[in-house]
Amino acid sequence: MSPVPAPLGLLAELTHRCPLACPYCSNPLELEDRAAELDTGAWARVFQEAAAMGVLQVHLSGGEPASRRDLVEITAAASHAGLYTNLITSGIGLDAGRLERLQDAGLDHVQLSIQDTDPALADRIAGYDGAHARKQAFAGAVTRLGLALTINVVIHRANIGHLPALVALAASLGAGRVEIAHAQYYGWALRNRDALMPTREQVDRAMEELDRLRDGRLTIDFVVPDYYASRPKPCMGGWGRRSLNVTPSGIVLPCHAAQTIPGLEFWSVRDHALLDIWARSPAFGAFRGTAWMKEPCQSCAFRELDFGGCRCQALAIAGDAAATDPSCDLSPHHAKLRMLAEEAAARSGTPYLYRGRPALTPIPVR
Ligand code: SF4
Ligand code: FES
Repeated sequence: MSPVPAPLGLLAELTHRCPLACPYCSNPLELEDRAAELDTGAWARVFQEAAAMGVLQVHLSGGEPASRRDLVEITAAASHAGLYTNLITSGIGLDAGRLERLQDAGLDHVQLSIQDTDPALADRIAGYDGAHARKQAFAGAVTRLGLALTINVVIHRANIGHLPALVALAASLGAGRVEIAHAQYYGWALRNRDALMPTREQVDRAMEELDRLRDGRLTIDFVVPDYYASRPKPCMGGWGRRSLNVTPSGIVLPCHAAQTIPGLEFWSVRDHALLDIWARSPAFGAFRGTAWMKEPCQSCAFRELDFGGCRCQALAIAGDAAATDPSCDLSPHHAKLRMLAEEAAARSGTPYLYRGRPALTPIPVR
């Protein structure tokens, strides 16, 4: 058996609480309670153990990490452990004073989500009136402090036609990078697939536009939407190979949707050292490496490059987490994935479903 690789990144889901209600939320259907959240000291121990294992970066995420009153102390603990600290935020709940305290605590980088360039559409998607204006003000506060800024945009049917304007907005906000990712249909987002799925024509046009937009002024990361891809992405850089997620209550996952896979046994930092979980827990061992693969992955030349794609998508579409990711055109389920995409994309006008709030009709695409 090959040695267990050292992880490079840790996603710290500090809380599932969030002021926004985006229909593409990939957090689980059942969110973890505030009462179950790890305290500051437990996070500090996790960061120390992560750094000792070789982790270089921690992504402070949620939910909305600013919902944690001890975010400054948590950031200081991550920085003290020697980790590069990246805050992934909606910008809501962080004024300039708190941001300055985060910088003093050692914060290195901010990733701010933007829903669209049109304020009404952006607020409709976020499920929060006034969110867009507050995000723009927050971006100003980030750049005034000289913190590195990346803009994150989740792309779907309503905003995929606005890519040039979204990239221009990111540049005008002072971002050095923009990450454009298609909605991933896990957790709550799967419920909204019919409301979010773009058409094939929209995706093709977006790909052409991106080629023109990549003029070197801004780094643009873009991933082809799985449902329209012909080869899968190496989800998480390979299961149990590069990174790990810690949920608000301390459960350690190989990916954010791993709990959708039945029969996996997850361990918690409340009971085990992080290294023990990474190296020995059943969930991390389940799909690490290539020995678990079935055909066509098992004998495929790409198996060490894409690791068979995404286990959670294989489960969701093929009903088998060990199957080839259906976004691969060698998968026997590839045609089904395409058909699901086309059927969903044809259901224009499907209302957005928000957690715990009434559904709303999407603003018509312009
Ligand atoms: Fe990747 Fe498996 Fe498809 Fe080969 S068959 S390209 S390993 S997903
Ligand atoms: Fe779980 Fe891709 S989201 S392996």
